[in-house]
Amino acid sequence: MFLKNKTIILGITGGIAAYKTVDLVSQLTKLGANVHVCLSKNASKFVSPLSLEVMSTNKIYSGQEQGEEIDHIKLADNADIVLIAPATANSLAKLANGLSDEMIFDIVLATKAPVIIAPAMNSNMWQHPSTLANLEKLEKFNYQIIEPDSGLLACGHIGQGRLPDNEIIIQKLIQALNQNSKSKGKILISAGATREAIDAVRFISNKSSGKMAFALAREALKANYEVVLVSTIEVPSDIKSQIIYVETADEMCAALKKEFDDSQALIMVAAVADYKIKNSSDQKLAKNELSNLELEKNIDILEALAATKQAHQKLIGFSVETNDALEKAKSKIKKKNLDAIIINNTSAFGADTADIIILKKDNQQETLSASKNIIAKRILESCIENSHDIISVV
Ligand code: CTP
Repeated sequence: MFLKNKTIILGITGGIAAYKTVDLVSQLTKLGANVHVCLSKNASKFVSPLSLEVMSTNKIYSGQEQGEEIDHIKLADNADIVLIAPATANSLAKLANGLSDEMIFDIVLATKAPVIIAPAMNSNMWQHPSTLANLEKLEKFNYQIIEPDSGLLACGHIGQGRLPDNEIIIQKLIQALNQNSKSKGKILISAGATREAIDAVRFISNKSSGKMAFALAREALKANYEVVLVSTIEVPSDIKSQIIYVETADEMCAALKKEFDDSQALIMVAAVADYKIKNSSDQKLAKNELSNLELEKNIDILEALAATKQAHQKLIGFSVETNDALEKAKSKIKKKNLDAIIINNTSAFGADTADIIILKKDNQQETLSASKNIIAKRILESCIENSHDIISVV
């Protein structure tokens, strides 16, 4: 859930709708957010600071702290988002004019986090030209306004001015946090089997389906990475990453070299053909000409990139082994200067599941039999984000 571990500063100003914020704080806390409540002086007449403290499990700032520089700057700096709910007409006027006679307004002025404002008031006050002018100003400051709902108001009027349901406020918070979230960095992923031409119709290739690479791309996108896929096969349309199509090992190597410098990791899932045809032909060869073919070793892409690898960059290889898997994989880690290698077996080709071993350069290993999606998530956690839970050391 997107609110997990997010720091939300909730400013409550003095309107009758303030009582609804006890439930709002309770819901936000249940979703994993760390909520710090800052009440205006008038707000504490409408809602109990003690209830809010119990729901948020944090100290409540109730307007007496104005002038305690450290607290309001600390809160402003630590905020992932600032929400003012309910915001009275009076607070809209203060916010629009940069007035700061209470701690919550200091926080709004000091923060670099997105600010969301949920006004609630009598419908005539909501429509007053002065309120409308303040709203226009607030929008210019890039504050997001959650429009009040219409209905029977506490003052007895029927019209627009009710604080929207907590679900709507939570949705807006999530949207704003999503817009504000920055990419965690760029991950380069190679996919598919390279194809080395023999002639106009034939080629050397292998059984790689690209499914593991695509699962990794999906999981990396979900985890907020920027993804660049260098692929020999068509990428499913649900994967909204940058895609570079290539065919041969040389083309794949050139594309990866271009993209590697500003990437934080390369996950080399592609099955690169070990050899290409030295004397391939643009024409179709007759069968008696095929016996004259000469093989030439392809460049080892991982080895080539390892030579330019910077200390913060991670190189992760894949390897299909049928015997002495661990020993072979260990020597590939050394030879190609890898941070980790994923050992696969032949049953993984084209399948949605796989039995793998994640082997890291410090010899830690983890065995996993699962769907490629689950495996992809674990590879990201373990090899890129360095989460622990490694099962054994060999
Ligand atoms: N690889 C590469 N360039 C190549 C061959 C392989 O970058 N020319 C990468 C693969 O994408 C994979 C890793 O190296 O991530 C290990 O591939 P594998 O085929 O097991 O390694 P090889 O060095 O080709 O070893 P082998 O002799 O077992 O084929």
